[in-house]
Amino acid sequence: MASNVKYSVLFVCLGNICRSPAAQAVMQRMVDERGLTECFFLDSAGIGGWHIGDLPDKRMRVHARPRGYELTHRARKVQGSDFEDFDLIVGMDAANVDDLRYMATTPEQQNKVVMMGDYIRQFPHYDYVPDPYYEGSEGFELVLDLLEDSCDNLLNQIIKQNNISK
Ligand code: 4NP
Repeated sequence: MASNVKYSVLFVCLGNICRSPAAQAVMQRMVDERGLTECFFLDSAGIGGWHIGDLPDKRMRVHARPRGYELTHRARKVQGSDFEDFDLIVGMDAANVDDLRYMATTPEQQNKVVMMGDYIRQFPHYDYVPDPYYEGSEGFELVLDLLEDSCDNLLNQIIKQNNISK
C-alpha cells in the first residue's frame, strides 16, 4: 500500500456509545503499537442517532480506562457517504450487519460490511459482540475481552490481505 493511502475502517454498533467507540480505541492502540499509525484511519458510528455528539457511556469509559484506553469519540450516526469513504465497515452483531447491508446501495458497498463476531477466536461461545447497555459490569468487561481478541485477528487479516507494512 502506498504510504499516502490509508486503509479506513468504520466500527458500527447501535448507539455508538459503548461497543463501537471501544472497538475503535482497541484497534487504534494495536495499530499504533505495530507502528502502523500512518497506514490506517479508524472511526465509529451508530445505526441510531439518539446519542449524537455524546462521549461514550460513562460505564464503558470506566471499564476501558484501567486497560489503558481513553474513549474520547463523539457519537455520530452512520451516513450514506460512509459506504464510499471507508474500505471496511464492521458491525458488532447480526442486527447491525443486517441494517448496514440494507443501507448499502450497491453490491460493492454491501461487500464492505463484515461482522466483528467472525473474528472472535478465544471465546467460542460468542459469535457477536453483545450489547452491554442494559447489562452490569460483567457486560462491559466482556465487550472489552471480545474486542481485544477480535481486533487482533481482524487487524492481522487486513494487513495480510492488503500487504500493509511500515
Ligand atoms: P452500543 O450500546 O450500541 O454498544 O453503543 C447501546 C447504547 C445505547 C442504546 C442502545 C445500545 N440506546 O438504545 O440508547
